[in-house]
Amino acid sequence: MDHDITVLGLESSCDDTAAAIVRGRSILSSVVADQTALHAAYGGVVPEIAARAHAEKLDLCIETALSEAGIPLADVDAIAVTAGPGLIGGVLSGVMMAKGLSAATGKPLIGVNHLAGHALTPRLTDGLGYPYLILLVSGGHCQFLRVDGPTTFTRLGSTIDDAPGEAFDKTARLLGLPQPGGPSVERHALCGDAKRFRFPRPLLDRPGCDLSFSGLKTALLRQRDQLVLDQSGLHASDVNDLCAGFQAAVRDVLVEKSRRALALSPGISGFAVAGGVAANVALRSALETLCADHALPFIAPPLALCTDNAAMIAYAGAEKFAVDGADDLALSARPRWPLDTHAPSLIGSGKKGAKA
Ligand code: KG4
Ligand code: ZN
Repeated sequence: MDHDITVLGLESSCDDTAAAIVRGRSILSSVVADQTALHAAYGGVVPEIAARAHAEKLDLCIETALSEAGIPLADVDAIAVTAGPGLIGGVLSGVMMAKGLSAATGKPLIGVNHLAGHALTPRLTDGLGYPYLILLVSGGHCQFLRVDGPTTFTRLGSTIDDAPGEAFDKTARLLGLPQPGGPSVERHALCGDAKRFRFPRPLLDRPGCDLSFSGLKTALLRQRDQLVLDQSGLHASDVNDLCAGFQAAVRDVLVEKSRRALALSPGISGFAVAGGVAANVALRSALETLCADHALPFIAPPLALCTDNAAMIAYAGAEKFAVDGADDLALSARPRWPLDTHAPSLIGSGKKGAKA
């Protein structure tokens, strides 16, 4: 497989506009323009605002990526773009830009699944060999994937409702902590007693690797309201203890489901995590211990490559190109695009659809 082609990658499926140049496993540049400020007043990503901002920022991101890589567009061998899943307006902005560049330069166009970008990141960062198991755990997605090749994925389980990052964000909101919620909750959890409040461990009583997080959020809301009722407010220690209890529940569920997913994945070369929630130190170290118990390498890519970026799209594009060749200009944007087309669809799966 030729990994040494130079690929321009574009990513615009949610609220990060990104462009990157990748050659083989070398990231020559990776530019991410985030839109947090544009959406801050609305408490979430507004699809129309996101799409317009992508259309405005993509060319600037591409210029910056080329100049930081120190190469002209002429030296790029192929153009890879996220063609889904995600917010349709944003995905369209990227796909139209990539098609324009491809038509104007004659360079091959490669439509990449955003989730494949995340799922192949451990190969970009650590050269992990196929097959391997990955847990994608972010603000919009949570699934276990066995990865057998650049376009061969088996979903072993996924959330049937909320993603863990979403649950962290809602927990922070309920406790008056700043967004993004994950880092805030993690910080407070450090000083808290995880045993003071009993949080449920959803779906552990059922077989399989599917997950659920919406009940945890409701449990937190009840505990908070009970405390407010009993003592007319929350003490700092209550907030810390609630954060610690919630985080321990998320960690326990993810670790137990990971244990089950590992049991269903014979012959793998390692276990990887990706997505913003993979930044959580308590979760990372619990998964590291689990892998040590199985004598398996544990791969947690650096945070900038766990969260949305275009380097992963360029890399996944190069691998897909090597096996499937290029797409033509009929490439379309797909707001929904499951990696494992044989997996049964779940209630709520991809409901948020925006992030991965
Ligand atoms: O992957 P990401 O940057 O965006 C997508 O969702 O695609 O993930 C963002 C999510 C947010 O929900 C954020 O609260 C969560 O990742 N997060 C964390 C931590 N850092 C970020 N969750 C738990 N612990 C953290 N340290
Ligand atoms: Zn993502």
